[in-house]
Amino acid sequence: MRTVIRNGRIVTAVDDYNADILIEDGRVAMIAKSIDFEADKVIDAKGRLVIPGGIDPHTHMELPFGGTFASDTFETGTRAAAHGGTTTIIDFAVQGKGESLNQALDNWHAKAEGKTSVDYGFHLICTDLPDERLPELKSLINQGVSSFKLFMAYPGVFLVDDGTIYNAMRVAGDAGGLICMHAENGVIINQIIKHALAEGKTAPKYHALTRPTLAEAEGVHRAIAIAEMADSPVYIVHLSCDDALQEVTRARDKGIPAYAETCPQYLFLDYSVYEKPDFEGAKWVMTPPIREKHNQDKLWRGLQYNDLQVISTDHCPFCFKDQKQLGRDDFTKIPNGGPGVEHRMSLVYNGGVVGGRISVNRFVEITSTNAAKIFGLFPRKGTIAVGSDADIVIFDPNEEQTISAKSHHMNVDYSCYEGVTVRGVTKTVLSRGELVIEEGNYVGKAGHGQFLKRGLFNSPRG
Ligand code: URP
Ligand code: ZN
Ligand code: ZN
Repeated sequence: MRTVIRNGRIVTAVDDYNADILIEDGRVAMIAKSIDFEADKVIDAKGRLVIPGGIDPHTHMELPFGGTFASDTFETGTRAAAHGGTTTIIDFAVQGKGESLNQALDNWHAKAEGKTSVDYGFHLICTDLPDERLPELKSLINQGVSSFKLFMAYPGVFLVDDGTIYNAMRVAGDAGGLICMHAENGVIINQIIKHALAEGKTAPKYHALTRPTLAEAEGVHRAIAIAEMADSPVYIVHLSCDDALQEVTRARDKGIPAYAETCPQYLFLDYSVYEKPDFEGAKWVMTPPIREKHNQDKLWRGLQYNDLQVISTDHCPFCFKDQKQLGRDDFTKIPNGGPGVEHRMSLVYNGGVVGGRISVNRFVEITSTNAAKIFGLFPRKGTIAVGSDADIVIFDPNEEQTISAKSHHMNVDYSCYEGVTVRGVTKTVLSRGELVIEEGNYVGKAGHGQFLKRGLFNSPRG
C-alpha cells in the first residue's frame, strides 16, 4: 500500500516546509519537494498543516474510581482521540492492592487488546510496592512499560509513602525508567476535607477549596527532593498552578532532571466553573482542581520557557447525569476526572498558536515530540521523518469548530468546553499509514491500534 500526501506544509518540532510525503508499509518512505509516483491513495493537503500525530501520555480509559468506571472504553476513547488528531495514547494500568505488577498489566492488556483505533502504551500505577516487589519494576520496563505513576494523594486508595517513592525511583531510575508523580499532599488535604464536611460544606466547589495550591507545591517539592536523593529523573503529572510550577522551575534551574506536564483544563478554565448553580460544578471535579485564573499566564510561561514540556489531557470522563450524581450530597463522592482527549490539539493550537503564545513548532513539540522522547517512543513516533511510523495529522489551521457534547465523540454526556469556538481542526488522520479519519469522518477500525512496547526514558532538550 502506497500513499502520497501532496502539497502540505510539514511542521515538526524543528521544521516547517512544503513537501510531499510517500508512505509505504505504514512508515514514511520518502519526503521530497515533489513526489509523482503511482500511489494507491493520494491525499491533497494544500493549505493545511501536516504534523506528527498527537501523543496524549495521560489517559484513563475505563478507570475504576469511587465505585464506578470512567465512561470511555478503549474503543470509544481512542476513536475520539483519533477525531482530535491524537494517534497515540499512554493509558494508566492500575495495580490493585496485593496484586502483582504483571497481573495488573495483564488486566489492562485484556481491556485494550483488539479494541483501539490508534496505538497505545501503558504506564503502571503502583499502589502496593513492598521491597520484594521492586524487581518487578525492571521486568515491566523490559516489557515496554517504562514509566510508573505513584500517588502522594488519596490516602487508603492510591497513596504510597515517601520510602516507597524513594525505593521505586531508585530501582526504576537505575533501569532507565521514569516515575510519574501525582504530587499533592493528600494527608493534609484529607484533614482539610474532614473539617469542611464537619461544617456542612458539601457542594462541588469545596473539592477545589479543600485542595490548596500549596498542597500541590509541597508535593512537587517533595517529589523532586526524593528524586534528587534517589538520583533519578521525575515527571510531574497534571501540574495545575504557579506555586507548583515554581518548584519545577527552581529545580530545573539547578540542573535537576525534573519534567512536568500540564493539561488544557488548567490553561483555559478557572475556578469560576465551580460556582455554577445546580451541582453543575461537579463536571469539573478533577484532581488537582481547576485553579484561579492568574495561574494560566504562568503555565503558558512555563510552556514557553520549557519548564513544562508536555500537554496531556488526564482524560478521565464520568457522565454528569448518573456518575457525577454519586456526590450530590457530598463532594468527596463525586468521581474525580473529566473528558478531554478529543479536543487537546485544537484547544492548544487555538490558545497557543492562534493566541500568539507559542510557535507552531512548539505546538508540535508539546503535543507530540516531547512525550515521544520522554516516554521512549521517539523517533518512531513524535516526528515526520523517513523511517518513522506514518502517524500523520492533516490539520486545517483556519477552519473553526464549536465544541459541544452534541457533536463530540467521547462517551460522556457533557463537555468541559461546551460552546467554545476554536480555530484549528483535525481533518484527516493516518495511523501507521492507515486512514482513521478522512475529512472529519471516522474510517478506521477498532483493533487497528497496537500495543507499543516503549523504550527507556529519554530527556527532551534540557
Ligand atoms: O481527577 C483525576 N485527575 N482523575 C484521574 C486520576 C488522576 O489522579 O490522574
Ligand atoms: Zn493523578
Ligand atoms: Zn490522571
